Amino acid sequence: AADTPAGVKRVLLAAPRGYCAGVERAIRTVEEALTRYGPPVYVRKQIVHNTFVVADLTRRGAIFVDELDEVPDSALVVFSAHGVAPAVKRAAGDRGLRTVDATCPLVTKVHKEAVRFAEAGYDIVLIGHAEHEEVEGTLGEAPGRIHVVDPARAEEAVLPAGRPISWLSQTTLSVEETMGAVEKLRERHPGLIDPPSDDICYASQNRQEAITAIAPECDLVIVVGSANSSNSRRLVEVALAAGARAGYLVDRVAQAEERWLEGVATVGVSSGASVPDHLVAEVLDWLGERGFADVETVTLTEERLTFSLPHELRSPIGGVQ
Ligand code: F3S
Repeated sequence: AADTPAGVKRVLLAAPRGYCAGVERAIRTVEEALTRYGPPVYVRKQIVHNTFVVADLTRRGAIFVDELDEVPDSALVVFSAHGVAPAVKRAAGDRGLRTVDATCPLVTKVHKEAVRFAEAGYDIVLIGHAEHEEVEGTLGEAPGRIHVVDPARAEEAVLPAGRPISWLSQTTLSVEETMGAVEKLRERHPGLIDPPSDDICYASQNRQEAITAIAPECDLVIVVGSANSSNSRRLVEVALAAGARAGYLVDRVAQAEERWLEGVATVGVSSGASVPDHLVAEVLDWLGERGFADVETVTLTEERLTFSLPHELRSPIGGVQ
């Protein structure tokens, strides 16, 4: 980078990075369910989108399934941090399954906004990725009334006529792409109503701001995160948009490639909200072995938010119905 003397190799470590309050709570939920009730604890969908976390909990007795029909009668099932459609909760109730809902409270907030807008007679544009579990869950709050618009394709969106329209978004998008999409939607639908606040969560926003701050100085950015992690993918995109000259997402250090370091002086490192910090430590070790031992943490925000466990696990032992 321009302000680094030739030959000096360094790492800028973005903070905050890694676990958000919703992910911490979701992982603690499965751990606590395992402690209280013993294995197996079924989990519908990946509890958080990180392959290491899922493998670790599997080893400890969690069984991850895609749908409820894979869960035996009277078993205990945890719903993942990304949220779940009401129809899935009803189906679990009809089957008599014991459930614990680890949906992040910030996702629940979007579900509630969707219900409120639908009840008030609005159609809702949900800006997000149709294939993501969070979007599937939110969509289920008002079937037929919510229309998913991919942020990259907002100009093509055809919105229904007849009712007033409001917009909501997936919690892990980038602020800029979401606002860009809203602007494009509004060109054709000037009456589009804003939600009380945007839905991008504090953790996504803070991680994006932190990587944006270091990106202009970085010849290379390495973000630790799984390929299906929306917020992790956004971090690479945001870094490249903010001036990083190259950027890659790695699930584990084994995916990092020597050739990325050719001609590189400054490497930026961050991680998605579902990533345990020891996976970042592995990347720092790998970089250190290759001459990038000088690590400077660049802290943009201090995070103190924590969420208490789902109410089903706050009662005395044996409280899950
Ligand atoms: Fe929740 Fe945001 Fe984390 S929605 S799970 S706090 S990335």
